[in-house]
Amino acid sequence: MVLLPPLPLLLLLALPGCFSAVVNFSTCPQFFADPGGTVSPPTIFARGRYQQICQIRQGNLHEYATLYDTANKIPVYSAYKFDGLMDCKRNDSWFIEPQLEDSTKDVYMKREDKSITYQNQAVNADYENTGFDKGHLAPVYHARSQSCSDATFTLTNAAPQNKSFNRGQWKVTESTVAKALTQRCKRNSAYIVTGVVPDYNRPPLKNRVRVPSHFWTAYCCLDNNRRVTASSGFLGVNVNVPVQEMPVAYLEGNLTNLYATQFSVFGLNCHQP
Ligand SMILES: *[C@@H]1O[C@H](CO)[C@@H](O)[C@H](O)[C@H]1NC(C)=O
Ligand SMILES: *[C@@H]1O[C@H](CO)[C@@H](O)[C@H](O)[C@H]1NC(C)=O
Ligand SMILES: *[C@@H]1O[C@H](CO)[C@@H](O)[C@H](O)[C@H]1NC(C)=O
Ligand SMILES: *[C@@H]1O[C@H](CO)[C@@H](O)[C@H](O)[C@H]1NC(C)=O
Repeated sequence: MVLLPPLPLLLLLALPGCFSAVVNFSTCPQFFADPGGTVSPPTIFARGRYQQICQIRQGNLHEYATLYDTANKIPVYSAYKFDGLMDCKRNDSWFIEPQLEDSTKDVYMKREDKSITYQNQAVNADYENTGFDKGHLAPVYHARSQSCSDATFTLTNAAPQNKSFNRGQWKVTESTVAKALTQRCKRNSAYIVTGVVPDYNRPPLKNRVRVPSHFWTAYCCLDNNRRVTASSGFLGVNVNVPVQEMPVAYLEGNLTNLYATQFSVFGLNCHQP
């Protein structure tokens, strides 16, 4: 899957009013590993139901990218770069994306309007009294700036996560990944993708929002010559038991079974050298 950044498109989108949060990933290729110089996003499911979002907080600064499933009302994955740990404040209100309902609306996440029924995305009420956390995919913990941290508080970057898992073993995993990147990735570029697998055996929350069976994450480090220097994958079930670390190729094998379709995390290009 080759995504070349189309320069004329970038210029066009930089004009106020033409700018779009719900676009396609060619607008924000910087969040995807480019081993061997090839921008290699995870498998992108077909448009329409699945929306490619270049997440934005202010101005025209993209913070990370999300593939969003408007039917299940949860993301498939969020992709971002890791630049070390910052101590960001948590913005504990969550926002919606007006463009998912109406493509003429502007790009910035907004507080939800309680008088509207949102057809294409989750709202805060979908999670209330369900016992599930709004589990971040791109986490505050890995955010490289306060504006990036704020941008993670969009419901398009969250999925129902077992509370004790979110606060327990998944938190451990986020910290394991940060430590590994700090040690293994030093001066290189670190790319992370974090995703969920929908559980069709469980009723959706409020008959709207699908609960994931699994959370997964993977990283890929590239040196200045875009050679892979380190990579690893993690797969955990959505209960508070330890998350399994495995090579990216194994994670891709497991995800191909779970999604029941060929699935790659870094375009099959970030396996160990
Ligand atoms: C992304 O958008 C650009 C500009 O609209 C378009 O040329 C390109 O074909 C789109 N890519 C996909 C995969 O839809
Ligand atoms: C949270 O979101 C609000 C509304 O966009 C914003 O004003 C505020 O700066 C954000 N950050 C924090 C840490 O509260
Ligand atoms: C959440 O995880 C805990 C610990 O693994 C488990 O006991 C509990 O049943 C889970 N809750 C849900 C709603 O699945
Ligand atoms: C899933 O991961 C495990 C390691 O945890 C591995 O042994 C197994 O081969 C993987 N499955 C596939 C289909 O790749």
